[in-house]
Amino acid sequence: MSPRRQDLPPLDRAELAPDPFAQFAAWYQLAEREVPLCEVMTLATADAEGHPDARMVLLKGFGPDGFRFFSNYESAKGEQLAARPRAALVLYWRELDRQVRARGPVSRLPAAESDAYFQSRPRGSRIGASVSPQSRPIERELLDELYAEAERAAADGPIARPAHWGGYLLAPETIEFWQGREDRMHDRFVYSRDGDGWTIERLAP
Ligand SMILES: Cc1cc2nc3c(=O)[nH]c(=O)nc-3n(C[C@H](O)[C@H](O)[C@H](O)COP(=O)(O)O)c2cc1C
Repeated sequence: MSPRRQDLPPLDRAELAPDPFAQFAAWYQLAEREVPLCEVMTLATADAEGHPDARMVLLKGFGPDGFRFFSNYESAKGEQLAARPRAALVLYWRELDRQVRARGPVSRLPAAESDAYFQSRPRGSRIGASVSPQSRPIERELLDELYAEAERAAADGPIARPAHWGGYLLAPETIEFWQGREDRMHDRFVYSRDGDGWTIERLAP
């Protein structure tokens, strides 16, 4: 039986982990059990003029260094991150009525890590990622031709990660945990990087 919002204990300052990644790991562990597609998140970036943009991507890992996602480096988001290497991400887990937000600088993951993740993907996804000029105008017929051509060329051989595709790391400066409560009196706590540690503050809902 899934926990409902009213079954979850209020978010209490004394119960929070001192480290936001430990807090995130605890929340994520429950979300993995209770929330379909819990890894789907919104990634917000800004272009060179400062105009915002946002889209869904998949959270593919997290650790003390930050949150990982993968994309096309030449896509709209790739160009935006090259021009302004900062982003915000947000996850909402409806079944738990929980939201997590993070903001911070974004860098590319080392090539070896991108290679390892790329090779873990199904063959069709690898071919698709290789041939799709993500975010560019294209006809469906051409896209299908590019795929078929790459499939023929690869035959049964390996498919190397193309240089235009790989991972990113968002290293958060702030991470906010939001727990829905009755009467819109929600609990919000924001962790802010402070030297080697973190400060934690409650925010008004
Ligand atoms: C549920 C969901 C998950 C997605 N995951 C990714 C992803 O992990 N990486 C990615 O590049 N695009 C992903 N997309 C597609 C993006 O939302 C977007 O269409 C694409 O990255 C191009 O965005 P851009 O033009 O802003 O660069 C996903 C879309 C949905 C709906």
